[in-house]
Amino acid sequence: MKAEILKVLRERGDYVSGQQLCEYFNVSRTAVWKAINQLKEEGYEVEAVRNKGYRIASSPDVITKEELVSQLNTMWAGQTLFCYEEIDSTNTKARQLGDEGLVNGTLVVADCQRTGRGRRGRIWESPRGKNIYMSLLLRPEFPPDKASMLTLVMALSVYEGLKENLSLDFKIKWPNDIVCGNKKVVGILTEMSTQIDYINHVVIGTGINVNIDEFPDELKEMATSIKIETGRLWKRSMLIASILRAFEKNYEIFTQTNDLSKLQEKYNSILINKDKEVRILGDKEAYVAYALGINEKGELLVRKSDGSVDAVYAGEVSVRGLYGYTS
Ligand code: BTN
Repeated sequence: MKAEILKVLRERGDYVSGQQLCEYFNVSRTAVWKAINQLKEEGYEVEAVRNKGYRIASSPDVITKEELVSQLNTMWAGQTLFCYEEIDSTNTKARQLGDEGLVNGTLVVADCQRTGRGRRGRIWESPRGKNIYMSLLLRPEFPPDKASMLTLVMALSVYEGLKENLSLDFKIKWPNDIVCGNKKVVGILTEMSTQIDYINHVVIGTGINVNIDEFPDELKEMATSIKIETGRLWKRSMLIASILRAFEKNYEIFTQTNDLSKLQEKYNSILINKDKEVRILGDKEAYVAYALGINEKGELLVRKSDGSVDAVYAGEVSVRGLYGYTS
């Protein structure tokens, strides 16, 4: 009820009379009044004007179900929503929900993670009340070998969702980090449960440094946040909604061909590594090559010193700039 009232007030963007709210939801004046008071207690500034009704004047940066529901205007992504004040890892939870049969598009969001996980077994710092930690559960119908491309689809969608709200100069570092001024802002961890030729489910976990002011010493050189870059706080729920809308659009495009052929041009246009010398770090070897951009499979095409072109696969190598993380 609280969530629905918030959604109506937000969508209208103007005063809605108490009477209208009562009729809309078929509840009493007292019920509306109670819900409005609860919203106020949670930090929403609700203006109440005689003969006009209620209007949301400002809202807090909170990760709650009602806040997210009121912002989300997607068709399927996040329409089944699990929201936690604290959790071990949203990816772990989404995988568990996947095993339990939850629908395609189920979203898990948390305000804080106790054991946030990064790629290659690393820890993902996940302090409370600052950043975005979310995992999207998908049940694709294509074969398992296509699934790694979804990470790039999400990277592109996060980029677009952020750009819709912010004029920062974000870039993608292949395959799926988003950076701002050579420092990492977003990390994506995709995990999959499969049969031999069949995907049970895929979980795409996204961590975004939004309002964090400071990083531990070991991350300072490599990481930044939207707050650090813009000097102000941002509403996480609004960013999540923009990202999920972009993802729905890009996922639809992706599934027309089950590859990145229709997205690669856009991806390459914002790829920080493109047309640069990069260091390719494999398990056994490391070499320097010239990055040309991704192909339709999401592999990075690199021209080696002998002129031959290699397609490198994200699962097997990582890429660095010649002097640091990206450059
Ligand atoms: C990386 O190493 O760059 C990937 C980081 C992914 C972090 C996100 S935060 C939400 C989700 N839950 C996790 O435990 N990890 C991912």
